[in-house]
Amino acid sequence: MRTVWIGCADPNPHVQGGGAAFLAERGLEVRWLAQSANAQATLNRCRALLAPFASKAVRGRPWITVKQALDSTGSMVPPTGRTTFTTPESLHFAHALRRVTDGVITATGTARADRPDLTVRHVEDHPERRRMLVICGQQANVPADWLASRERVFDVHFCPDCAALPDLLTRTEALWLLVEAGPTLLAALHRHALWDDWLTIRQDAQGQDHFSVSTRQDVTPLSLFAEWARCTQEAACSLV
Ligand SMILES: NC(=O)c1ccc[n+]([C@@H]2O[C@H](COP(=O)([O-])OP(=O)(O)OC[C@H]3O[C@@H](n4cnc5c(N)ncnc54)[C@H](OP(=O)(O)O)[C@@H]3O)[C@@H](O)[C@H]2O)c1
Repeated sequence: MRTVWIGCADPNPHVQGGGAAFLAERGLEVRWLAQSANAQATLNRCRALLAPFASKAVRGRPWITVKQALDSTGSMVPPTGRTTFTTPESLHFAHALRRVTDGVITATGTARADRPDLTVRHVEDHPERRRMLVICGQQANVPADWLASRERVFDVHFCPDCAALPDLLTRTEALWLLVEAGPTLLAALHRHALWDDWLTIRQDAQGQDHFSVSTRQDVTPLSLFAEWARCTQEAACSLV
């Protein structure tokens, strides 16, 4: 007899279900990871993989991961003339996150200070992949030429009030978004509980980066990255 293992049930409350019964009726042995005593780790990986989809299916809004880099003084601001200060390994992780997510949430302060590309560069991207870019703040506050260049690459949305972010995101197909913004927007997202996991990259005085993650959920898709082995888990994220 052939056996089908089911990682976890479809979290979408609008689906009819019945897939397992359908397979069993056709002579397959259907087994669930949840009922297997030694499959907890695999079950957790399945739930982590599904977490962005489950977020969209159950809450209507995508999963939101905040990424924040702090220098050895605890500041998020890069040295003059630079837009980043983290190591090549951290840049690789950041770009792998951009690659796997459906877009970036940034804010007008970062747009003015850094004119960031926000594209996938340090890892190979999916060909023809077009993502969304949500810019929190007023459109008048970003440089017009930077905005025009981003509109060529992204589907751009402005969000003047992040309390309206869930509504805006619910109307899109995005499942997982990455926040790359300065301390002002991060504080606002924290106040509104508009995040699911929060990755902090802390640089020490020797120039080494340390990863830590705090999460508001019981699983995180960040646990599927090789870098997870380097992440410590924090009860609370650090606001600057
Ligand atoms: N280390 C890192 O991980 C990292 C990442 C990104 C940026 N940065 C650095 O951060 C610095 C910029 O930080 P920042 O704090 O000035 O800028 P920011 O947080 O990127 O942007 C601030 C803007 O966000 C908008 N905003 C604030 N609260 C909001 C809310 N509740 N809803 C919607 N929009 C809201 C406002 O835009 P309006 O004024 O237009 O309304 C505000 O001026 C730069 O030096 C940049 O290099 C560091």
